[in-house]
Amino acid sequence: MELSLKGKIAIVGGASMGIGYGIARMLAAEGARVAMTARREPALREAAERLRAETGTEVLPVQADSRRADDCKRVVETVVAQWGGVDILVNNDGAPPLGDIMSFDDAAWQKAMEQNFMYVVRMVRGTVPHMKARGGGGIVNISAISAIQPIAGFGLSVASWGGMIGYAKTASIELGPFGINVNTVCPGYIETSRLEKVFAAGGEDTAKMRADLVAQVPMRRIGTVDDVAGLVALLVSPRGNYITGATIQVDGGLLRHVR
Ligand SMILES: NC(=O)c1ccc[n+]([C@@H]2O[C@H](COP(=O)([O-])OP(=O)(O)OC[C@H]3O[C@@H](n4cnc5c(N)ncnc54)[C@H](OP(=O)(O)O)[C@@H]3O)[C@@H](O)[C@H]2O)c1
Repeated sequence: MELSLKGKIAIVGGASMGIGYGIARMLAAEGARVAMTARREPALREAAERLRAETGTEVLPVQADSRRADDCKRVVETVVAQWGGVDILVNNDGAPPLGDIMSFDDAAWQKAMEQNFMYVVRMVRGTVPHMKARGGGGIVNISAISAIQPIAGFGLSVASWGGMIGYAKTASIELGPFGINVNTVCPGYIETSRLEKVFAAGGEDTAKMRADLVAQVPMRRIGTVDDVAGLVALLVSPRGNYITGATIQVDGGLLRHVR
């Protein structure tokens, strides 16, 4: 299926590795121009070079911390100055620390809200005027299945993503009339360096944890970044524009709920 992404202008957060890089690569392979962000500049530049070499498309690395309001503003300004607008926004980054909800103080909760909630609010606020000017756009937020079915130890993310999902649903209602769709994608377990950290935090033998997990997943495997990126590319393309306000898991069938 031709996704009609050629020449579109995309911003992908947390794109120096993992799911973000996979999404940036998928969009670039479909012909989009891709601005990618991350905090650590050398890794970001190296990832941008690799992407350029792999896809031959225009790539713009912009160092930024998603938790900083000024950085969010600068990312949008840089992309608009370079390419003249924005069509696609993918909000993705790392995640707040794992731990028991009783162990976190106000500062930790505030940081989590900056990362998982205010980041999305700021990036949407910055990019939507440009999408409106171009007659539409596509926004996807990357969350996790723990936002649908909470897991002990993931409380900072679960709670802050809960607010973000309510925000995204409201945004889909308000922005639909402008041709802008807004969706949230919830990966299950995806093969990235972060997954290794999640296994390590479990405190058991990681090979056993991995095998136990695979046995619970109906598709009998851990997901790949391309499993997530394929859905994101569809959602932000004209082909997926009628899908909006949805929260969609990509988990190999791990969540058992019907609705
Ligand atoms: N992997 C999984 O199994 C899985 C499952 C469900 C949900 N998720 C969610 O998907 C997202 C991506 O996960 P991943 O596995 O791809 O992680 P990852 O491999 O650790 O990659 C995270 C990326 O985000 C960047 N990043 C981290 N903090 C940032 C910040 N404050 N500002 C800007 N960039 C930042 C990192 O670069 P720098 O460190 O240089 O900034 C890196 O490029 C996370 O929110 C995670 O919770 C992952």
